[in-house]
Amino acid sequence: MRLIVTDSYEKMGMEAANIVAGQVYLKPNSVLGLATGSTPVSMYQRLVAVHQSVGLDFSEVTTFNLDEYIGMSPDNPQSYHYFMQENFFRHINIRPENVFLPNGMAEDMVAEGERYEQLIESRGGIDLQVLGIGQNAHIGFNEPDLKFAATTHKVELDEETIQANSRFFKSAAEVPRYAISMGIKTIMMAEHVILLANGRNKAEAVRKAVCGDVTPEAPASILQLHRDVVVIVEREAAALLP
Ligand code: F6R
Repeated sequence: MRLIVTDSYEKMGMEAANIVAGQVYLKPNSVLGLATGSTPVSMYQRLVAVHQSVGLDFSEVTTFNLDEYIGMSPDNPQSYHYFMQENFFRHINIRPENVFLPNGMAEDMVAEGERYEQLIESRGGIDLQVLGIGQNAHIGFNEPDLKFAATTHKVELDEETIQANSRFFKSAAEVPRYAISMGIKTIMMAEHVILLANGRNKAEAVRKAVCGDVTPEAPASILQLHRDVVVIVEREAAALLP
């Protein structure tokens, strides 16, 4: 694991964007794994700026997002499909046919999980996976559990996650209870991984991810076993690191 501590949220996004941009520059047909939520917004803003200023080319890039709420249609402003369009895809020259998110409207989530895994495989696997981290150390929507979840699957969200994500909804009651998420194995298969975190409320999760025991009770801790992870944390989120 390589650790980069930045003194602001914007710089965290800039460091992450530099790694993503470098990946795309060196391999124009890269397959990127992407995250939603507040954390990567500054990274997306920076990537859009680089695209607009020096023409970073996304026309051959493929993306797979980590997760989607179950029961959320892509045109719902609270869906992760919508989030990605608004924050990233509509500002760059990515081709719509190269953009993938799990289908939260699928009737059979087991079949949807298998379909998604096959799609990732058919594109040659993920070159670079971008991750945020939950306060409970989840990655994707892999919540603390007794074992590490394998591939893309249906998850029941923890109460802590529902509360944390209620800020995007009118109330906690409106937050979907279920999501479909890449599994830990899907994430671990990525060639390179970057994990981003900002804010004091992520400090304990970051500590568990970087130097806690490797345990499914802190899903991000599995990243200690990955061969190429860069952890980019703004200093408040790094507060509990030794
Ligand atoms: C999002 C995802 C989640 C978030 C995590 C942090 O696609 O998979 O693991 O990265 O919940 O969310 P924020 O960034 O909103 O604090």
